[in-house]
Amino acid sequence: MGFNIAVDGPAGAGKSTIARLVAGKLGLIYVDTGAMYRAITVFLLREKVDLSDEKAVADKCGEADITIRYREDEQVVILNGENVNRLLRTEEVSRLTSVVSAQPAVREKLRSLQIRLAAESDCIMDGRDIGTCVLPNADVKIYLTASSAVRAKRRYAEQCARGIACDLGQIQKDIEERDYRDMHREVAPLVQAPDAVLVDTSEMTIEEVAQHIISLCGGYCKAEGLSGKD
Ligand code: DC
Repeated sequence: MGFNIAVDGPAGAGKSTIARLVAGKLGLIYVDTGAMYRAITVFLLREKVDLSDEKAVADKCGEADITIRYREDEQVVILNGENVNRLLRTEEVSRLTSVVSAQPAVREKLRSLQIRLAAESDCIMDGRDIGTCVLPNADVKIYLTASSAVRAKRRYAEQCARGIACDLGQIQKDIEERDYRDMHREVAPLVQAPDAVLVDTSEMTIEEVAQHIISLCGGYCKAEGLSGKD
């Protein structure tokens, strides 16, 4: 079993940015589990499966072979032999992934893959159920959050910077709807693990959050001879 940090929290709390930064500073692999759920969604959309039909989804998702590779420290998701990274971040895929990820067969399939990845390497893994279901014995657990207004503003700024026209109110509404679905589904809902450290990033910079998480990994940094400061 490697050294594992579990990071959970709602959409837009900064999980991937922070996890990538901490991974770089501590020499860990960053495992983005949301990307795996997104890849299954791309597969089911291509196969024109009715996403609300539990049986149809369960039957079909057995045909999706998802593997993870690392290229220059970036996670690459391979779906049936194809690198699908460029297809994962559309608004449609974001919205529908929160529907697909509520399906028990999809969760079971990806959970096994995630457990294997964490056993094979020291990693920081982010998602919604990592500290509660996937890695209940993780060395460090973080629940990262921020108000929905702050998360919507961050997403709006990102989209504007990419030159994509968008509406702040609509983004906040979408975020709140995804939060609701992720927190209220029957299987592995988003919830703070009792032993997770709550970090509210609303008033913190990315660097401050990363340093805070690194300070919680004190023992690991010492064992590896890392200061976690550069
Ligand atoms: O982290 P993200 O925005 O890429 O996640 C996309 C969707 O996948 C989101 O609606 C929640 C879901 N998800 C999940 O249910 N469990 C995970 N471990 C990771 C993501």
